[in-house]
Amino acid sequence: MAGRIKILVVDDEIIVRESLIGWLKKGGYQVDSAEGGRQALGIIDEREYDLVFLDIMMPGVSGLEVLKELKGRYPQTLVVMITAYGSVETAVEAMKNGANDYLMKPFEPEQLTLLVEKLLQQKKILDENALLREQVASRSRYQDLVGASACMQKLFNLIEEVAAVDAPVLLRGATGTGKELVAKAIHAKGPRRFGPFIPINCGAFPENLLESELFGHEMGSFTGATRAKKGRLEIAQGGTLFLDEIGEIPLKMQVDLLRVLEQKVFHRVGGTGSIPLDFRLISATHRDLAKEIEQGRFRQDFYFRLNVIELEIPTLKERGEDIPLLAQHFLDRFRRETNKPVAGIEAAALDLLGSYAWPGNVRELENAMERAVVLAKGRYLNKRDFAFLFRGEAPDMPFSLEEMERNHIGQILKQCGWNISRAAQLLEINRTTLHNKIKKYELRPSK
Ligand SMILES: Nc1ncnc2c1ncn2[C@@H]1O[C@H](COP(=O)(O)OP(=O)(O)OP(=O)(O)O)[C@@H](O)[C@H]1O
Ligand SMILES: [Mg+2]
Repeated sequence: MAGRIKILVVDDEIIVRESLIGWLKKGGYQVDSAEGGRQALGIIDEREYDLVFLDIMMPGVSGLEVLKELKGRYPQTLVVMITAYGSVETAVEAMKNGANDYLMKPFEPEQLTLLVEKLLQQKKILDENALLREQVASRSRYQDLVGASACMQKLFNLIEEVAAVDAPVLLRGATGTGKELVAKAIHAKGPRRFGPFIPINCGAFPENLLESELFGHEMGSFTGATRAKKGRLEIAQGGTLFLDEIGEIPLKMQVDLLRVLEQKVFHRVGGTGSIPLDFRLISATHRDLAKEIEQGRFRQDFYFRLNVIELEIPTLKERGEDIPLLAQHFLDRFRRETNKPVAGIEAAALDLLGSYAWPGNVRELENAMERAVVLAKGRYLNKRDFAFLFRGEAPDMPFSLEEMERNHIGQILKQCGWNISRAAQLLEINRTTLHNKIKKYELRPSK
């Protein structure tokens, strides 16, 4: 492994250069060196370096200038600035310009080894995440739908076929599986895509309101109808009507809707003028309609009218291989929205997400990613960032709450330079409690 890693050392001081080269070669890495910025810029194009050690203070072309050039040409290459005690501020400046870390002179071989291992580990995560990102951007995406699994690829093909014909479609799938996104994709791919996409959640209205929501009403048609209103059937003209939660429609409404769909005309509540139907119909339910029919809660004739074409949307658990892709997709979105510097997800965290049951399907994963990004402490999401998923499932919990608390407090203390008052404030506990926790967890400042 180490033998394939290419490292470049750039420093004008021969002693620093030679010792770095010596130690790194001992670690089994391939090492090249340059005596200054100009020479460095000349050789970075010869081989793609994984890691570059770059002295900040050099005569001629400075370390900062090399950094900018290097990151411009090879953004994946890791850069560690070498700095003297007096120039920490410049190092901070360099970090802002994309340097990944810095090393202060003088340093010990152990320090170097740890740093290199840490950075290479990060690079591995970044490379893996870049691969996922590429997949999200490519054939694993259809409209807004992400999915590389065979069942999703099959669904994408079906959507493509179904979109071309005008027949009613019934979407079946558990909560949060993406029924509405699929409906939108069908609309966006079909001949009515320039018309409106009008959703209505049939479960959200009491019976009398649902009627006027769907068909509209004329002024004065019932108490409170102070003006005429168009219904969703009318607004959807030329486009697509999406009847969501179709299983919640009361039986009497089912009769009315069935008649309208058969006669292809309707009129507003309290109105007489007939309006022709001109939309594509997509409906959706998480219920098993066959069972609803058996139990007399759903009309069979209405069902036959709705499900000329039926699409089944798989649960997230049935397509576990899509979890890393979706996680990456949501990570990218929430990072953009929150501006949090979260660079990626550790492989162990992805494994953990794969082991979870996801009763809320993609919506639950979306919410979990948002929460993890918002609360993230580090640059990479790890297992602990998803611990909340397993609360209340103690037997399956892969790490203890105590361990989490210990880490959290340790991190805050480090961040505050062990200023107890400040840390207590950040943790929102009092100083005595903090002292007790420090004792309990045997925390102490690291050197
Ligand atoms: N394949 C997917 N790729 C990307 N995002 C998805 C995918 N499937 C669902 N989502 C997202 O998950 C969330 C839930 O999707 P949607 O509302 O379409 O599900 P639903 O099946 O209609 O859920 P419900 O039954 O609760 O109404 C949305 O934010 C949607 O953008
Ligand atoms: Mg929905």
